[in-house]
Amino acid sequence: MSSAKSAESLASGLLEHALSAARAAAVRAAVTLGLPEALGDAPATAEELATAVGADPAALRRLLRALTSYGVFAEDGEGAFVHTEMSLALREDSPHSLKHLVLWCTEPWLWSLWGRLDESVRTGNEVFTQEHGRKFYEHLHTQWPESAKTFDRAMTQQTKLSAAVLADLLPLSGVDTIADVGGGQGLVLATVLERHPELRGFLLDLPDVVAHADARVHPGGELAHRVQLVPGDCLQEVPVQADLYLFKNILGVDEDRSVLILRNAVKAARPGARMVIVDNFVDADGPGQQLASAMDLRMLLVIGGQKHTRAGLLKIAERAGLTVHGVRPVDSSLHMIEATVPE
Ligand SMILES: C[S@@+](CC[C@H](N)C(=O)[O-])C[C@H]1O[C@@H](n2cnc3c(N)ncnc32)[C@H](O)[C@@H]1O
Repeated sequence: MSSAKSAESLASGLLEHALSAARAAAVRAAVTLGLPEALGDAPATAEELATAVGADPAALRRLLRALTSYGVFAEDGEGAFVHTEMSLALREDSPHSLKHLVLWCTEPWLWSLWGRLDESVRTGNEVFTQEHGRKFYEHLHTQWPESAKTFDRAMTQQTKLSAAVLADLLPLSGVDTIADVGGGQGLVLATVLERHPELRGFLLDLPDVVAHADARVHPGGELAHRVQLVPGDCLQEVPVQADLYLFKNILGVDEDRSVLILRNAVKAARPGARMVIVDNFVDADGPGQQLASAMDLRMLLVIGGQKHTRAGLLKIAERAGLTVHGVRPVDSSLHMIEATVPE
């Protein structure tokens, strides 16, 4: 390759990274404008879509040009736009909707934090508290009810991607009760209980999250008679005795606090109880690696948290006093560590 050509491809590669905020903003704007819902089965022009969503036709044409270049919507060759798999996944009514996950990844309050990533890297600490005066979860639940709803829905959409496969993989022989620690809205727990009618479960999470849990596990819901809701703080205690404790995407804090969460469960558990950690390894090979790294940086910025390496999570399990029996992949981005409380 000539040096002029390699300089050019270097520049375009780097600029693609430097301008990637435009990608995130364009995908968010598609959702907030309601484009995925405005476009139906028939192709529609930019002008028709602009009328439907109340936008400037020329500006919308420019947004659509960017989006189609990422594979979100496509042109039909006659100047109109049609859905792609990605644009359909942005619809609220899509069976595999990722709409709220996309909104959560692109929340406007994040943009100013990203600009301070270098500060976080210098100090090793989050910058959220300095910017907003309170720690993230407290601020989210007391000041930003809309963002909190988006968070809960996003977690549910993300979890849907792996809940069914996880429900099949969990080591449930001899297990009567399962505690989902930091279980969010209870989607994993509900999926597991639906597949295993003999199981009972505890859903532990922060009070505001449990209050908005999946309708199936709430009083009156079809699984409610088998579920106990446990609002609380797992950094303080895990006040339930279960045969299997699940920690899925909940150890995103530093090593010491991760160990504390597991130890709190160990304190309540009987010897031999199973402990299953499901998380992304930030150093895993394959397509999930870039995603895990991006989540890792976001966690550093917002909560001073992290995605751990495989060795890091194994060390956490060991420091909590667990006996680790094995590690296996759940899907392209998640792994599962199987452990028990020593007899
Ligand atoms: C990334 S989400 C994972 C949710 C769920 N386990 C899943 O995989 O869908 C992290 C969860 O941990 C909960 N959480 C954070 N800090 C907590 C704490 N101190 N005590 C209990 N739950 C907590 C959050 O409310 C959230 O639901």
